[in-house]
Amino acid sequence: MAQVPVGSAVVIAGAKPYVVAQPTDGAFVAFDAACTHQGATVAAQDGLELECPAHGSRFNGGTGAVEKGPAKSALASVPVRRDGEELVVG
Ligand code: FES
Repeated sequence: MAQVPVGSAVVIAGAKPYVVAQPTDGAFVAFDAACTHQGATVAAQDGLELECPAHGSRFNGGTGAVEKGPAKSALASVPVRRDGEELVVG
């Protein structure tokens, strides 16, 4: 969890990339990292900010909400739970 500092979002690469964020201390959230515009993988910016490299949509990594189009829908929420020092996503 040290890799997801409070107030930040990170993108976990893999066959199905995820965004994991810790908006407030100890509260973790996760989202599908596929942009809701055309499915490109979003990239983490400063803090909780996420940006899609394809057409510039921006999302709030703490809520998944769209902050700038062309995407119109929020990122899909994914369950995340804490298992000791590990975070289990999906
Ligand atoms: S695919 Fe993300 S902005 Fe178009």
